[in-house]
Parts: sequence; structure tokens; C-alpha cells
Amino acid sequence: MTVTFSRVLILDFGSQYTQLIARRIRELGVRSEILPCTSPLTPDLKEGLTAVILSGGPNSVLDEQRPEFDEEWLSLNVPILGICYGMQLLAQHFGGTVERSQRREYGRAQFQLCSSGDFVHGFPQDESFQVWMSHGDHVETAPTGFHVLGESEGLPIAAMAHEEKPIFGLQFHPEVAHTEHGTLFLKNFLFRIAKGKQDWDAKHFIHHTVESLEGSVPEDAEVVCGLSGGVDSTVAAVLVHRAIGKRLHCLFVDNGLLRDGEADEVERTLGAEGLGLPFHRIDAREEFLSQLKGVSDPEQKRKIIGRVFIEVFEREAKRFQNVKYLVQGTLYPDVIESVSPSGGPSVTIKSHHNVGGLPERMDLELIEPLRDLFKDEVRRFGAELDIPEALLWRHPFPGPGLAVRVLGAVDEERLAVLRRADTIFLEEIRRAGLYDEIWQAFTVLLPVQTVGVMGDERTYENAVALRAVTSQDGMTADWYPFPPEVLQRMSNRIINEIKGINRVSLDISSKPPATIEWE
Ligand code: XMP
Repeated sequence: MTVTFSRVLILDFGSQYTQLIARRIRELGVRSEILPCTSPLTPDLKEGLTAVILSGGPNSVLDEQRPEFDEEWLSLNVPILGICYGMQLLAQHFGGTVERSQRREYGRAQFQLCSSGDFVHGFPQDESFQVWMSHGDHVETAPTGFHVLGESEGLPIAAMAHEEKPIFGLQFHPEVAHTEHGTLFLKNFLFRIAKGKQDWDAKHFIHHTVESLEGSVPEDAEVVCGLSGGVDSTVAAVLVHRAIGKRLHCLFVDNGLLRDGEADEVERTLGAEGLGLPFHRIDAREEFLSQLKGVSDPEQKRKIIGRVFIEVFEREAKRFQNVKYLVQGTLYPDVIESVSPSGGPSVTIKSHHNVGGLPERMDLELIEPLRDLFKDEVRRFGAELDIPEALLWRHPFPGPGLAVRVLGAVDEERLAVLRRADTIFLEEIRRAGLYDEIWQAFTVLLPVQTVGVMGDERTYENAVALRAVTSQDGMTADWYPFPPEVLQRMSNRIINEIKGINRVSLDISSKPPATIEWE
């Protein structure tokens, strides 16, 4: 896709806040992209370039092992903002000095401006305000040609600016919520200094995406898409459908591991009665369940589900002639190549179910219309495409479905018990008005039986766990504190209404160290 938007490039030196910088800028209506700090400045990167931001990072500019960086970036004729490590890099590059601080400074600090100008337009001049620091080094002397913009306790150079060029440095983090007026720093930088255009919005995005797909998918080519019923694949499919209409074929694989009534609901919402996508429902329940029979190891279950999905999808997609493309709902956080301060790949905690390997196997090219978007943008842009709110704000649901929530071996009977518990749990969450506060909520069928007493009878039945978490992105999560009366109702209903369950427990583990799903 050709670049048509005003855009800001963020060079990522490995800060935990880099994605947050990108989101803040997009929230201000300007497209931002993250690149590893090691990226050389190539001519294509200069197209439409509005400004460059150098992020923070865990390294020290004083270390020999600091990440490599193409200094050509600093001779560009566009505004540059260095944050934390980025400011220290600017100071060092332009001839100032950076020193290690006696003690590392984390958290709140009071910042006082001592200069004026467009970059700090609209800020309190006579009183200090709170900023968020997280650094070990500091700028000891500003380079020649720079002046000090502000100071904090114990840090005489907490912000600096070039006298003539639009180059700025902030030792604190304007992108975090704890920095008062943080967004105003970014706003001034984007609009007063860099003269950025606010053209990153739903209408522009949809228009450009559809236009570019119309131009790039040849008229005789057909396209397939795997729909899961979730937000990402739906938004991706609707965009592609707008561009190429009936040449898109959406395959929805019912793997028998979905929640109660889910397959029907997905068909109703996305198919002819709903969004009008060319919807093909494939009943593969038997195939998945027979392959899973007797398998209790979580990784093995995940691998089987991934493999069977690929087999089914490939077989069904081959029914269409001249298929050349596969649509995927890949999001921006999945494609950002993050900078690992320690280097080396991370260990696999769970092998995620995706369609990896399919494009090569079937010799298909990928269409990924959401590659530039964060999840919240997908939801906002999806609303502009008239996708129902209930679908856009649905909790995430894992590819391997209920198979990773029936702990141990999966069979029809255990799935049925879990489905009923899950339905009650979600009904009660909705009834209490808590659905939108929670990132994800589900029940887990434990592989144990416990003793209970009902009437005067001894029972020996299943136990379930309730799991509900809050999270921003699924990477970290905290358990949701339900009011006791809500828990009481959930527990009563599950035990009384479902034959086969005599105990309900509550999962109060955060991620890390636990994960959201149990398998
Ligand atoms: P964990 O359990 O790793 O889950 O903390 C993080 C998020 O990912 C979801 N999840 C998956 N999503 N395919 C998916 O599409 C998978 O194989 C898969 N496994 C976990 C999980 O529900 C949570 O939102």
C-alpha cells in the first residue's frame, strides 16, 4: 500500500513505553509507526515523514554494547523529539555530556519550565507539575546550540531544545498517564512544531484501504478468508468485501469447540442475514473431536487443533477456483519487530493456534488490511463499517476454543457441562453490567471430582473454576474482583442448574505468573 498519510516514525530503543508513544500520537489523529532503532534511514522512509521520535530504552549511551543506530536520522530535516534515552542520545550526538546518576530515578518528579516557545505553549510557567521519570543516566551539560527548557529536583537539565532547529529532548515520559500535560507536549510537537495533518481517522483509512485493494487484487483472482467470529477477522473481511465483493469467500470452521449457540450466532451476524459476507459454514466437529480423543497434554491438544484446522481449511478452500489470496486479521503489534535488550528469541509458553504455514502450503499471497492498526483502532474503524457494537466489543476467544478449558481429555459430555457453566457465568456478568469492564471471562472444567452433599445424598462430581481478568492487551492481566453477591449468584446457579457440577472455585491469579487460559 502506498503511503498517503502524514506519519511519525518512532525509533524503538527498547522502552516498555514505545507502543504507548505510538498510540498517543494516533489518538491525536496522526499515523505513527515503530521501527527498530537499528533501521537504516532509507529513501522510502522519508516519504510523507512528519517527524521522528527517539524512544527510551534500557541501555546506557555510555555503554559500548548499546544498540546500533544510523546517525543519518539526526541530519534529517524534520522535527525530532528524544525521550529519556532518546534525549541522552541527542545530547551525546550534538556534543553535550551524559553521566550516570548517583541513584536511578523512577516515578514521580516535579518539573518546572524555565523557557518558553511553541513546544511548551499553553503550559504553566510559574508552577511546577508532575512528570514520570525512569532513568539511570542524565544529561550533565547540554550541547552547544541547545538551551535548557526545564528542570526537576536534582536534575538541572530535564528538558532541552535546539536554538534554531526543531530538535527537542525530554528526560521524562510524556506518553504515560502519570505525566501531567503529557499529551500537550506531544500535541505541540506534532502540530505547532511539525505541522502534522490529522488525517489518521476511520474514513480516510477505509477509503484508502478499499481503493488500494481494488487496485491490487487482479479481476480474475478469488480470495479466501478464515472467519473466527472475532473482531479482527470480521473487520478484515468486511474491508476486503467492500473492495472485491463476491470474489471473497469467507470460511467459518465449526470445530465443535465453540460455546453454546456460538456457531449459529456467528452465522447470523456475519452471513446473509447480517453483514452480508459470503459465508460458508463448515461442520468439522466430528473431525476435531475424533482427533482429540483421549489426548490430555495441553501442547498436544493445541498442535492437533492447529493441524486439523489447516487440513480442513485447505480442503474447503480448494473448492473455489482460481484462489490466489488469503485474508488475515494480523494487527500492528504482531508485526512490530521489538528490540530485545538481551537479544535472543523468547521461549514458547503456549503454541498459539493460527493459520501459520497455510499461505506457503497453498501458494497464496496474504492480504492483511489491519497490519497498521492497534486493537482499539480496529474497533473504532469497525464501527465506521457498521459492524455491530456487540461484535466489536466481544471478549477475545482463543483459537483452540473450549478444548483448552476442558482440562485433560476432551469429549462431548465434558464439553456440554462446560458450555452450560460458561453460559450461566456470562449471563450473570452481563446481568451485573460488568461485561465491558472485563477483558475476558470464562469457566474451566477441572480434571478432578469432588465430594459434595445434595439433599441427604453424597455426590461425587465435577468442579469448575471461574476465571475473569482485566487487561490491556492480554500480555499481562489481573483477576477481576467480583462483588460477593454476584459470586454467590453465579455459584448457586451453576451448582443448582447443572447436573454434574458440585463445586465452584474462583481463580485469583494474575498474569504473570499465571496465564489467562489454564492450558
Ligand atoms: P494466555 O493464556 O497465553 O492468553 O495468557 C493470552 C490471550 O491469548 C488468548 N489465547 C489464544 N488466542 N489462539 C488465539 O487466537 C490461541 O491459541 C490462544 N491461546 C490463548 C487467550 O484467550 C488470551 O486472550
